[in-house]
Amino acid sequence: MRQRILVIGATGLLGGPVANGLREAGFTVRVMSRDARRVRARFDDPFEVVAGDALDVADVEKALGGCEAVHVSIDHDQEDECVTQVLEAARSQGLQRISFISGVTVCEENRWFPLVDRKLRSEQAIRASGIDYAIFRPGWFMEMLANFVHGDRVFVFGRPKRRWHFVALQDLARMVVESYRRPQAANKAFYVHGPEALTVLEAQRRYCRVLHPDVGKLRSTPYWMLRLIARLTRNTRMQKGIEMVNYLERVGERGDPSEANAILGAPEITLERWLRMQSREEAR
Ligand SMILES: NC(=O)c1ccc[n+]([C@@H]2O[C@H](COP(=O)([O-])OP(=O)(O)OC[C@H]3O[C@@H](n4cnc5c(N)ncnc54)[C@H](OP(=O)(O)O)[C@@H]3O)[C@@H](O)[C@H]2O)c1
Repeated sequence: MRQRILVIGATGLLGGPVANGLREAGFTVRVMSRDARRVRARFDDPFEVVAGDALDVADVEKALGGCEAVHVSIDHDQEDECVTQVLEAARSQGLQRISFISGVTVCEENRWFPLVDRKLRSEQAIRASGIDYAIFRPGWFMEMLANFVHGDRVFVFGRPKRRWHFVALQDLARMVVESYRRPQAANKAFYVHGPEALTVLEAQRRYCRVLHPDVGKLRSTPYWMLRLIARLTRNTRMQKGIEMVNYLERVGERGDPSEANAILGAPEITLERWLRMQSREEAR
C-alpha cells in the first residue's frame, strides 16, 4: 500500500513544491490548511484535504488519522506549538516518520534570535519523540529574490557581504522526497546548500539582469530607512523581512552539507539555470 503523508504548510512557499514532489513520487499526500479553498485554488489536482488548525490537537489528530508520516513546513512563529500538537497527536496514531523544515543558521550560538530558539525547541522535541525524523536546514531560496522587487525598484537591504549557497525550491523538494525513499536518511539533520555561493547583492544583480532588465543600477537602502518605510506604511510583513535579512547578514551561513549531498543528492540548480527556467515560465 502507498504511504500516506500529511503535509502541514502545503499552501506556503516551501510546502507546496514538497507536497507536489511527494505526490509525483507516488505517495498519497494529504494537505492540512486552515482554509481548504486556498488548497483548491493553489493545486490543480486536488490532494486529500483536511481543513484545520495545526495548533489544535483535535484537528491535528483528525488530519493525521491513517497517515504514516508528516511533513511540517509551517510559519516559524507557530511551528514549535505545531510540533508539540503533532507529537501529542502522534502518540495515538502510530506515526512512523516526521520531516521538518528548520534553517541554515539554527545553532545554540544564534539562540538569542527568537526564530532560532523556536526551531531548536522544535528540533529537540522531534529528536526526543522516538519517531524517525529528517530535519532540513536550508538558507536563502532563489524564489525569495522576487520579494525585493517593487515596481521598477529593487530594494537592496543594507550592504550585503556574506555569501550564501542559494538553493531552488525544486532541489529542496527533491531532497525531502528522497529522504522518504532512503532508510539511511532517518534521524539526520541535513544542511541544504545550493551549488554556488553568492552575496544577496550578486544574486539580485543576476536576477534583475534576466527578469527585470529595465531596472537600473541597484542601490543600497540603509536599514534605518527600510524600517522607517515599513513603519510608515504599517507593513508588518516588510518589518519581519527586514529583521530576518538583517539577522541573516549578521550571523552568516552555517553547516556542512556533505552528508545531505551524499545521501539525498546535492542540489544542482544554479541561479543561472533557475533564471532560465523562470524566463521560460514567463514566456508561456
Ligand atoms: N522562506 C524561506 O526562505 C525559508 C528559508 C529557510 C527556512 N524556512 C522555513 O520554512 C518554513 C515554511 O516557510 P514558508 O516561507 O514556506 O512559509 P509560508 O509561505 O508563510 O507558509 C506558511 C504555511 O504555514 C501554514 N500555517 C500557518 N499557521 C497554520 C496553522 N495554525 N494551521 C495550519 N497551517 C498553518 C499556512 O497554511 P494555511 O495558511 O493554508 O493554513 C502556510 O501553508 C518556516 O518554518 C521557515 O522558517 C523558510
